[in-house]
Amino acid sequence: MNTPMRILVVFYSRSETTAELGGRLAAELEGDYERLHEVEFRRRAGPFGFLRSIVDVVRQRTAHLQPMAHVLANYDVVLIGTPVWAARASTPVATWLAEHWHEVRATAFFCTMGSRGSEQTFAQLQQLAHRAPLATCAISARDMKEDIAVEKVARFVLAIKDALSAREDEAAAR
Ligand SMILES: Cc1cc2nc3c(=O)[nH]c(=O)nc-3n(C[C@H](O)[C@H](O)[C@H](O)COP(=O)(O)O)c2cc1C
Repeated sequence: MNTPMRILVVFYSRSETTAELGGRLAAELEGDYERLHEVEFRRRAGPFGFLRSIVDVVRQRTAHLQPMAHVLANYDVVLIGTPVWAARASTPVATWLAEHWHEVRATAFFCTMGSRGSEQTFAQLQQLAHRAPLATCAISARDMKEDIAVEKVARFVLAIKDALSAREDEAAAR
């Protein structure tokens, strides 16, 4: 019998939208989740935190992250989730991926956003991960209002499960 794939959901969230999605994905895929936290955790709060975040992302600054709770070597797939900031990945997620890409075996990306910027964000994540994702899922504020989010998440989960079972079949055939 095949051992089930071990899944970790890694994400950053400033105002809980991506956190909510990350929690849902971890539950649906029966995986663990790791929320990224910065050492200076109040840095992003309020209107000044918003402005600081724009400046950080535009200037491509790095974040000072707290150590992870999970060991990446224990996971077959890592889902990486970020809010879109100025059509890019948030500074904590870009920093994390630049530091850890070589420890990730396979990946899938998800993002939340007001309305646009997901394609550039996924392209940036793919570049930082040095590999193409198994699947991607972008959720906008409008998707959430119109209940399209549920459908998109279900499709994302299915795409990941399909990709994983294809990998298991390949491994079994070897
Ligand atoms: C600094 C900053 C920049 C943002 N830039 C964009 C953007 O380029 N496009 C967009 O659609 N939404 C943008 N947003 C909105 C967030 O992507 C959106 O609200 C997201 O769902 C927030 O996720 P969170 O609650 O997990 O932090 C930005 C928000 C912040 C704080």
